[in-house]
Amino acid sequence: MILQLYSLIIMSLDFCFMVCKAFVMWACIFYRTLFPAELKSISGKIVLITGAGRGIGREVALQFAQLGCTIVCWDINLEAAQETATEVEAIGGKASAFHCDVSQQKDVELKAKLVKNVVPHIDIIINNAGIMPCHPFLSHSIQEIDRCIDINVKGCIWVVREFLPGMIERKQGHLVSMSSIAGAMGCENVVPYSASKFAVRGMMEALTEEMRRDSRNLDIKCTTICPFVVDTGLCQRPRVKFPSFLRVTNVKDAASIIVRAVRRGDTLVFMPEYVYYFWLLIKILPSRVYDYVVDFFDTGLEPHDE
Ligand SMILES: NC(=O)c1ccc[n+]([C@@H]2O[C@H](COP(=O)([O-])OP(=O)(O)OC[C@H]3O[C@@H](n4cnc5c(N)ncnc54)[C@H](O)[C@@H]3O)[C@@H](O)[C@H]2O)c1
Repeated sequence: MILQLYSLIIMSLDFCFMVCKAFVMWACIFYRTLFPAELKSISGKIVLITGAGRGIGREVALQFAQLGCTIVCWDINLEAAQETATEVEAIGGKASAFHCDVSQQKDVELKAKLVKNVVPHIDIIINNAGIMPCHPFLSHSIQEIDRCIDINVKGCIWVVREFLPGMIERKQGHLVSMSSIAGAMGCENVVPYSASKFAVRGMMEALTEEMRRDSRNLDIKCTTICPFVVDTGLCQRPRVKFPSFLRVTNVKDAASIIVRAVRRGDTLVFMPEYVYYFWLLIKILPSRVYDYVVDFFDTGLEPHDE
């Protein structure tokens, strides 16, 4: 009886301590949201970007280069990757370009070996390569679904699998993956894409947990980016009822949000950033109320052919 009472007291004290500590941490984070800390320098870091040949990948490459990073560009379109590398060099940066189809595990393995001949290691990975078939679920071909999962999900897994061991050895690194708002809320016309982006977010959440719990004291950060629509042409027919609230993000702004997220060590970032709070709020609603709110905002993606 006394022993039971004693363990109950210890458990209650532990619980109170946990609540107090969580509250203090929350207050610190809130303070940091209002008064952000100085951004970490990333000069000299080596950044590998998949899908660096155009869109967000290319712009992120240029912005990292401007901050003194060396860039390794991967793309299924070698010419486009080389153009990005040339643009990086034109602004005084260092870059190399490789053809890589991230959906092919053997290709990723081979290109990772080639990269190791050019740079000593990779500090930051941007898992950016992705495709977005956009039409009703039943009109997706089997090949299209396979390709979407292979590039968007397995591509991220193969890349992380190649470079994470080096990061663990050096006890530091940063993994960034592009998810989407469609990876946080189901969205019509992009069912396989939505599934792939939910998977990316799940993969990153699980990786964060694994890195955090590792007993080797690793400083390996994981960042997931969930954009709404960025003006790269990937989303060809966005439907936006309130553009002042859910606006299309300019690709330069999108890249600077990603670079800032890396420099701050953020875990989950939405684009526009405040949509994160909106998402948290509507996710606790009962499903009929959730549907009503979603219908009110009437925002989504209209189907298109490519
Ligand atoms: N643009 C948006 O509105 C938006 C919104 C949410 C999420 N995202 C995500 O951001 C990422 C980049 O989007 P984007 O708009 O810059 O796309 P994009 O189409 O402009 O560029 C994608 C790049 O990936 C490359 N790529 C495609 N398949 C590849 C493969 N198998 N291996 C290697 N490279 C490959 C393409 O050649 C291209 O250079 C994607 O993962 C996308 O899902 C984009």
